[in-house]
Amino acid sequence: YTAQIDASDIEKGTYPHYMLKEIDEQPIVMRKIIREYQDENNELKLDKSIRSAMQKADRIYIIAAGTSYHAGLVGKDFIEKLAKIPTEVHVASEFSYNMPLLSEKPLFVFISQSGETADSRAVLVKIKELGHPALTMTNVPGSTLSREADYTLHLHAGPEIAVASTKAYTAQIAVLAILATDTAKAKGLELEFELMKELAIVANAMEVLTDQKEEMERLAREYLATTRNAFFIGRSGDYNVSLEAALKLKEISYIQAEGFAGGELKHGTIALIEDGTPVIALSTHENVNYSIRGNVQEVVARGANALIISMKGLEEDTDDFVLPSVHDLLTPLTSVIPMQLLAYYAALHRDCDVDKPRNLAKSVTVE
Ligand code: G6P
Repeated sequence: YTAQIDASDIEKGTYPHYMLKEIDEQPIVMRKIIREYQDENNELKLDKSIRSAMQKADRIYIIAAGTSYHAGLVGKDFIEKLAKIPTEVHVASEFSYNMPLLSEKPLFVFISQSGETADSRAVLVKIKELGHPALTMTNVPGSTLSREADYTLHLHAGPEIAVASTKAYTAQIAVLAILATDTAKAKGLELEFELMKELAIVANAMEVLTDQKEEMERLAREYLATTRNAFFIGRSGDYNVSLEAALKLKEISYIQAEGFAGGELKHGTIALIEDGTPVIALSTHENVNYSIRGNVQEVVARGANALIISMKGLEEDTDDFVLPSVHDLLTPLTSVIPMQLLAYYAALHRDCDVDKPRNLAKSVTVE
């Protein structure tokens, strides 16, 4: 008798799926990124040429697809709020055929876990022809997008095997925060927080969250096991995470899901809310806490089954899940974890192939 084990089982260790293993690796990746991007004097450590390219740019164009695009949306907030450079985020496949008016000194930032996405590469080829500088943020430094760009920032997330991206998303957001903070410092702008300290707090919070799997399994069973559709709502940074939460759920559980800006729901989409429709609301920002709760009441009044995820300090007694407190700008790094776990357990309850969902590929090398 020989036991049937293959290499992938060994790499997975005791985990039933790569996705769960990769969700769990997020605090480790966060700490690795802190180490890699900090020198012995606890100063940010970034290639000088990248620093100067950021300083020269009058506008940043982030180009990406899928989950990386969602990380880009969070990155725009960092670059505009910290480094004060206007930033646009574009879906790669749209940019190629409908190029916006470019500024005089654009810097292109390609975000790609694999570094091989054909849609993003098509944009890189085009903007290189125009003579513009490009930076690739990737998990695979030798990849095509990394080789063909002028600069590379490494995500240090380790190999991501599951088709649904998890640890690469949080790594992308952390590296974008480092890039924005480094630029702000180089420009002499005052910052009211120390990024690496805040990222260390995030890493600890991530650990607390990955330890709450039973709770997420229960919520997934209660809200998502048999539903046909689901909505995720949030405002500001929470809206960006809602988009990623909906994508995660769609990819692996095949539930029709949509991420929506809390205030925009009433302009049409609220027509879809009926008795028992799951609406998952995120509230991690003080300035929109009151208004998103108003949006929850609007959907509950129409029969929605609301699940509220808030953050310590902003919570109310009736909230279903409360995240540990982290810096206001960095909440996407923690709030996405319960979303990833909800998607994972929803997929399990529905007997879906979590690591290899139908119709999807880990990297899409055709346009
Ligand atoms: C594919 C994957 C997604 C990923 C997207 C972009 O569609 O299934 O998970 O987000 O490509 O991939 P990239 O490697 O460029 O980040």
